[in-house]
Amino acid sequence: IGAIKADDDSPGLAIYDPGFVNTASCRSAVTFIDGEKGILEYRGYPIEQLAESSTFLEVAYLLINGALPSKAEYEQWVHDITYHTFVHENVKSFMEGFRYDAHPMGMLMASVGALSTFYPEAGVIGDADNRMIQIIRMIAKMPTLGAWSFRNAQGKPFVYPDNELSYTANFLSMLFKMSESRYEADERLVKALDTLFILHADHEQNCSANAVRSVGSSQVDPYSAVAAGIGALYGPLHGGANEAVLRMLRRIGSKSEIPAFIEGVKNGNEKLMGFGHRVYKNYDPRAKIIKKACDDVFDVTGVNPLLEIAQELEKIALEDDYFVSRKLYPNVDFYSGLIYEAFQFPPEMFTVLFAIGRTPGWLAQWLELTQDKEQKIARPKQIYTGDRGLDFTPRDQRW
Ligand code: ACO
Repeated sequence: IGAIKADDDSPGLAIYDPGFVNTASCRSAVTFIDGEKGILEYRGYPIEQLAESSTFLEVAYLLINGALPSKAEYEQWVHDITYHTFVHENVKSFMEGFRYDAHPMGMLMASVGALSTFYPEAGVIGDADNRMIQIIRMIAKMPTLGAWSFRNAQGKPFVYPDNELSYTANFLSMLFKMSESRYEADERLVKALDTLFILHADHEQNCSANAVRSVGSSQVDPYSAVAAGIGALYGPLHGGANEAVLRMLRRIGSKSEIPAFIEGVKNGNEKLMGFGHRVYKNYDPRAKIIKKACDDVFDVTGVNPLLEIAQELEKIALEDDYFVSRKLYPNVDFYSGLIYEAFQFPPEMFTVLFAIGRTPGWLAQWLELTQDKEQKIARPKQIYTGDRGLDFTPRDQRW
């Protein structure tokens, strides 16, 4: 198409599509979304069924391998991931070198990028076994790095993985353990966090998946490509909305203030954070599941008083023509921040939790990219708007 030119100076026929809103960058068999109907499926399986009956590691296997594991495959997968949870001591020293107030997402991005130097063979992406071992390592080490970035902010010693625990229980142990004895979180909390990881595991060509694919298309190693994805997720327009929801709920402060707040939204003064989605023009299926998980978490931690405000806000908005006519429904971020806060995560950690959950999705898309013969290095066209053919005047004649 680019070769169709009216004359030699013509840039050729090109589609100007900022943000790729209408341009498919790839073919993918990983995740299906129908935003009008509120459907999300990983490899064809509805998110509701996976959240109800699967585990995060099984979902990770599904995303990476394209099919559910047999019993033997599942056990081997869990064994392999558990085996790789430790990181090299020099990575630990590297992470200890960050300032006490370093943002945990910045630490995660840097330490995942640093892993590429510990596994130089990761750059040989043409070898299937090599690709798989790097994928296993990355899924395994992400909770360790995420937990350590949290402990750094608290000035607490880093806790090594406890491989007798499940993936998510182990993560909670590395986050919260305070003594020599084993830290075992309440099973309901483990299940709720595991479910949140499942809900975040992939979402087709979002900004961070696109970053992983774009950087990965240069055939760099997967640690570097995923570090780029973490960078994309770090941005407030992508991973940061649940924090904004919490701030909004705190500002509203009580149920009696909701009508005035809603009026302000309708007058265009501000947005109802956690509502609306570029793709979902129906209830975000993940929000429904998270809303349910709230009950399990609050049974253990006690109710977050902001929940009542959130529920009332949702009820009022869903009966209001402004929101109904614009198809504005709660998205995944409307309730997730409340759960994370109940776990006593500071807001800076919310995006780290998202990154741990999203890692299998990034890697599934990276793997698909490396095997896609039609893929080329990402190199979008541009519409040039600058000057042409200027004469350069040397500095001594210009000044
Ligand atoms: N509150 C009030 N009005 C809204 C909201 C909202 N949250 N979202 C959209 N609208 C209105 C717009 O003002 C617009 O109204 P108009 O037609 O009168 O001008 C109409 O609904 C359509 O909105 P767009 O901005 O065109 O929708 P778009 O698809 O571009 O935006 C987005 C989607 C960015 C998510 C938006 O709904 C929003 O800002 N929501 C709040 C932030 C948020 O919750 N983000 C998390 C998204 S999920 C995720 O990233 C993991």
